[in-house]
Amino acid sequence: MNEITLGSFYIQSFIIGFIGLILVTVFFKLSGRTKLNEPPLAYYRFPIIGHTWSYLTDCEKLILESRKKYGETFSLYVFGQIQTVVGKETAHEVLKKDQVFNFREGYRTFLPLNFVFRQDMLAENNAKITRDYISGKFKHFINELQKNIIKAIDLYIGECVEPKIIREPRKTISDIIAIPVANIIVGEECCNNEDILEAFKNVSLLIAKLFYIPPILSFIHPWLHQQFIVIPLRFGWSQHKKVIISHIKPVIEKRLDNKKRLGDAWVAPLDILQCYLDDPEIVIDLDPNNVNYDYIADGIGHFIFATMTNTTIGTTNALYDLVEKKQYWQELYQEAQEINKQCNGNELTFNDIAKMVKLDSFVKESLRLATGIVGLSHKCIFKSYYTFANGYQIPSGRLVSLNFSDTNNDEELQGQNPTEFYAYRHLERDSPATKLERNFLTFGGGKRACPGRFLAVNEIKTFLHKVLLKYNVRTDNDEIGPKRGYLGPIPKPINVGLVFENRKEIEI
Ligand code: HEM
Repeated sequence: MNEITLGSFYIQSFIIGFIGLILVTVFFKLSGRTKLNEPPLAYYRFPIIGHTWSYLTDCEKLILESRKKYGETFSLYVFGQIQTVVGKETAHEVLKKDQVFNFREGYRTFLPLNFVFRQDMLAENNAKITRDYISGKFKHFINELQKNIIKAIDLYIGECVEPKIIREPRKTISDIIAIPVANIIVGEECCNNEDILEAFKNVSLLIAKLFYIPPILSFIHPWLHQQFIVIPLRFGWSQHKKVIISHIKPVIEKRLDNKKRLGDAWVAPLDILQCYLDDPEIVIDLDPNNVNYDYIADGIGHFIFATMTNTTIGTTNALYDLVEKKQYWQELYQEAQEINKQCNGNELTFNDIAKMVKLDSFVKESLRLATGIVGLSHKCIFKSYYTFANGYQIPSGRLVSLNFSDTNNDEELQGQNPTEFYAYRHLERDSPATKLERNFLTFGGGKRACPGRFLAVNEIKTFLHKVLLKYNVRTDNDEIGPKRGYLGPIPKPINVGLVFENRKEIEI
């Protein structure tokens, strides 16, 4: 055989071997189904591809049709994996049974952040810090939050005596959110540092982008996709991690020195960095040479994901909703003005923000409709198999996704015209944006529901409150509202320029 034929022989053998590997994997995956009373697997025409193409190109139609044909619980064959989709009846069972369905294992299938922020127990510790510290002591740092949001708006939007076009509002909002978030995470000493803010913005934008990469390699094995998807983040994070450590190190040394010298008389700063420093497993004997900097930096990285990524998306969507739904503007403006008058233009307290009930309901509606079509995938971690209350069974390891369109389109759950944006839907039910309910799955549910929702909602409300009072905002292309679409089951990021102009009739 000459070199060329030998080369093509190798290529052919590789392709045949590769296809054979996929077929064997598919055979084993599908043949394992027969032993259990599994949910119906929706019909698909092409083996291997399964439902992947329609999932990517018209997920809404696929889910609506499957729901109609197979009922509330059904399975799809996507990216080489069987995925079970549960509707409004069973979604709550998944959220409540945290011993059976694990959210972290679910999102790690698509984005294994634990491969990057490598510390054991980090996700659990950060959840505890969020519950005990951020949400537990929330009222204490609402002032700082507000001051930083005003400062950030002034910096990135500023005075708009003449109309000012912001071409990439998503980026601007990420710039704005980074400042209050950095203040909460790394504290007063570092939150204005350009390098730190750059790291926060870059890491959060990078993670947001990774969600849109379809897991093609999962056709062979999810592990391959996991290895591939974290490459850019691993690289990016190793650079930012060094920068973050170099800036927090002197701050940590100073805090430890103060604590040693002043003892109980020292007033510890209220921030997440201090939560790590108070942990005797991270800092031993207040000794700056015995600090686990690696853990702290990875903890901060993980917090950037939890706090910044979703809040930036939520704030951007809510702003676009405000611009698009002009009919609410005047009423929301009046509410904002009244509250501003009541506190004489002084800083808003936690209770003042709670009084913005119309805005709260508006934000909740925006968050409700931004969930996408299916999502919040949980992995079944139960021994061997699990039997749903409806009698269907799934094996351990199965990914179970929530059918948001089923919950969001349901008149019984949502009231009239469920698919339409109705800003006062939640106000009429007296249901604040932080309240978890069957008709609102944006923050998950059960014991593991998002513990950061109090911060997220207050951040979005404070931002919109300031925008309402100071500006008129419109799109820069005369479209009434930016078009919404999906990439697979996920809402496409909107990227329409916005024009900000100072309100003429500011009253305080
Ligand atoms: C609009 C913004 C946000 C959205 C939509 C959101 C959504 C979610 C969802 C859906 C979960 C999973 C819940 C479940 O398993 O049932 C979650 C978990 C979590 N979120 Fe948020 N989140 C947001 C903002 C925040 C913020 C600002 C923080 C931090 C202060 C935060 C911290 C966390 C943490 C630590 C967890 C893991 C909880 C655990 O594993 O026990 N989130 N979030």
